[in-house]
Amino acid sequence: MKLLEDKIRNEGIVLPHNVLKVDGFLNHQVDPELMFEIGKEFARLFKDKDITKVLTVESSGIAPAVMAGLALNVPVVFARKHKSLTLTDDLFTAEVYSYTKQTTNHISISKRFLSSQDRVLLVDDFLANGQAISGLLDIADAAGIDVEGVGIVIEKTFQRGSQVVRDRGIQLESLARIKALTDDGQIEFEK
Ligand code: G4P
Ligand code: NA
Ligand code: NA
Repeated sequence: MKLLEDKIRNEGIVLPHNVLKVDGFLNHQVDPELMFEIGKEFARLFKDKDITKVLTVESSGIAPAVMAGLALNVPVVFARKHKSLTLTDDLFTAEVYSYTKQTTNHISISKRFLSSQDRVLLVDDFLANGQAISGLLDIADAAGIDVEGVGIVIEKTFQRGSQVVRDRGIQLESLARIKALTDDGQIEFEK
């Protein structure tokens, strides 16, 4: 998606340890017009999938997920993060390990907002190691839900996250695909 790539080229900052800082439009301040275009693009890419619900994880997944839900005319549910969790019967829960923060979080979604009839699209801001998406897939499995697609704003193709999705034969659409972040601050996109 050219609009997104241009935005990343103009405003993205390469940090150590292969981290791309995009807090000017995605991870802190949010660019609503860009998010709206992103939502419409996800809707276009998954229009034949009869999506009934969009799932994401708080916090940075919410903006693109809501715009996808708007464009697809379906509700959006975000998994909540908890450091630890007292057992509750009315939640689907999964473990998510963060390589960047080296912590394990639990994410959970209330059973009230998932139905085994749902056909869901998973949306997230970044695909790096795939831990967040794996957690959502675990929750979908526990709920007996079909995952019809995964929509990612920025994929770092040099990390292993896409494997998680491809291994399950799920359609993966990443709107910007970055193949390298160089030591001198360059951002290289896949062709
Ligand atoms: P993974 O889900 O793909 O495995 O991501 P990983 O554990 O490697 O990263 C943990 C957090 O860092 C996630 O956000 C993920 O979206 C984010 N992240 C990964 N790579 C980058 C990057 O290059 N740039 C930025 N800005 N973020 C990156 P999170 O902890 O769930 O935080 P949030 O959603 O509350 O923002
Ligand atoms: Na995220
Ligand atoms: Na993030």
